Amino acid sequence: MELQTLAGLLHTLQTVAIAALIFVVCAYFPILQYRLQLARLPVFSGSETGEKQRQAYLDSAKDMYKEGYVKFKDSLYRIATETGEYSVVVPISLLPELRKLPDDALSFPKHVHKTMEVKYTKLGTEGLLIPHSVKSDLTPALTRLCPTICAEVDSSIRKYMPPCQDWTEVCINQRLVDVIAKVSGRIFVGPELCEDPEYLDSGVNYTLDLMSAVQAIKKLRPWLKPFLAPRLPETIQLRKREQHAAEFLQPIVLERITAKKNDANWQEPDDMLQWMINRSKGADSYEQIAQYQLTLIFAAIHTTTMTTTNTLYTLAVTPEYIGPLREEIRNAMAENGGVINARTLQQMEKLDSYMKEVTRFYPPGLVSFGRRVLKGITLSNGQHIPAGALIEVPSAAIYGDSAHYPDSDTFDGFRSYKLRQSGKAADIARNQFVTTNETNLGFGYGRHACPGRFFATNEMKMILARLILDYDIKMPDGQTERYPQVEIGTQSMPHPDKTLMFKKVEV
Ligand code: HEM
Ligand SMILES: *[C@@H]1O[C@H](CO)[C@@H](O)[C@H](O)[C@H]1NC(C)=O
Ligand SMILES: *[C@@H]1O[C@H](CO)[C@@H](O)[C@H](O)[C@H]1NC(C)=O
Ligand SMILES: *[C@@H]1O[C@H](CO)[C@@H](O)[C@H](O)[C@H]1NC(C)=O
Repeated sequence: MELQTLAGLLHTLQTVAIAALIFVVCAYFPILQYRLQLARLPVFSGSETGEKQRQAYLDSAKDMYKEGYVKFKDSLYRIATETGEYSVVVPISLLPELRKLPDDALSFPKHVHKTMEVKYTKLGTEGLLIPHSVKSDLTPALTRLCPTICAEVDSSIRKYMPPCQDWTEVCINQRLVDVIAKVSGRIFVGPELCEDPEYLDSGVNYTLDLMSAVQAIKKLRPWLKPFLAPRLPETIQLRKREQHAAEFLQPIVLERITAKKNDANWQEPDDMLQWMINRSKGADSYEQIAQYQLTLIFAAIHTTTMTTTNTLYTLAVTPEYIGPLREEIRNAMAENGGVINARTLQQMEKLDSYMKEVTRFYPPGLVSFGRRVLKGITLSNGQHIPAGALIEVPSAAIYGDSAHYPDSDTFDGFRSYKLRQSGKAADIARNQFVTTNETNLGFGYGRHACPGRFFATNEMKMILARLILDYDIKMPDGQTERYPQVEIGTQSMPHPDKTLMFKKVEV
């Protein structure tokens, strides 16, 4: 090789090396900068690292958040979560300033996108059609829909509860899933499909399949995900569920669109499917509408079922509440012509309070207000959260703080009921099950707080009212301890397979 060529080659190599170095620095600089900024926040340090730390978090997140809550009362700190990523934990005092931030600074959808692996699970979180349909179509319709929901609750309970002429052991969580899928189905897709057990079952199973898929995808190495995630059996199963739902919905959507076009006297059905068709203005395919419905089912069914099961598991070990609740429900109905309408539900203040205390004691998650930071935020106390960070609030630790809930270790089913008795409008508004605020985060917080909570609360009250009126309820085999929650990481749920005893009340 000629000397000149060699020199040329060396020169080229040198240029390439410098370019590569610049590229690497540019690519890594933001990551480095992010890490440096994050490192300025105090860290909650357990003694473990790596896999051990991960396991410690999965086993004892509850104690960790509690300890962090006491230690960092008015400041941010970070904690390594089960994925190894740090999350920034926000105290109560800094919440009001975060609440004001717009979606392009602090994002709920981006948070869900990552935690639910939306790129592969295709959960329908793009756009605002679903929250808008719930917030602007469903919630304002609740008074009008009361008789429909109530009739569906009564017929579903008749359908799914065993006769219970004598004391009967019932796996109540499973019965509740069926009842709640059917009642929600009546409102989500209308009378045709909510009578179809295959459609309902498929929706219920979709949520479980989704959770399995998320778990399986999270186990993959990040750089292999784009290639492997779509090929996982769990992901393929999700695609089958989506297709199945679309097949179910197609004829109904088509029928409705045709009827609207051709029949001037056609009455639009009063359900979410119709509102969604209406909102999407013909722009969305059946597949898209099916995806919206599945996402709605995911947000609605198991959350509502868990809360109702939690309430009944608690009721079975606090039998002293059954009498007063039953009396309140009877009186409220008697005052409203024997039916459950919006006013009857309002008057079930003790039941509302009991559900609220159950949720305080057994919240579905340890943390709430999970958000992804898109633009760096400097808070009033001078601390800075860099863009890219994940934030959360230790909602369960807050629920356990006696400064906010006096004698917080004591279960007091009528805690909120008593706080309402001043009769002041503010006290009534503040102490309802549907209320969210800085110390009460079970339904989230701020602009993305659960829009379905008004519907869920009505539905749960109707179901519980029916069960409390019509059945005596107790633990099997004279047990007196409440079934413990199943706790994994930040999740906490009632055991799905436990039983309670039910006996029809004689009239
Ligand atoms: C007891 C039952 C339920 C619980 C405990 C619950 C809880 C939650 C929570 C914690 C959030 C996140 C809020 C935040 O981070 O600020 C949420 C969001 C949401 N929930 Fe619920 N939920 C329940 C029932 C329902 C029902 C029945 C529906 C539909 C009818 C629903 C629809 C939604 C939707 C669409 C979102 C996303 C809101 C958005 O993107 O802005 N939820 N829910
Ligand atoms: C849903 O899952 C249950 C339990 O795994 C199963 O028995 C049922 O056949 C499934 N239903 C549908 C429609 O996939
Ligand atoms: C559909 O939308 C139109 C206006 O966009 C509204 O007037 C109508 O009431 C809506 N129908 C339903 C069922 O929501
Ligand atoms: C927040 O909610 C809790 C429980 O509903 C209530 O007791 C408390 O008074 C509320 N706080 C404010 C400031 O409204």
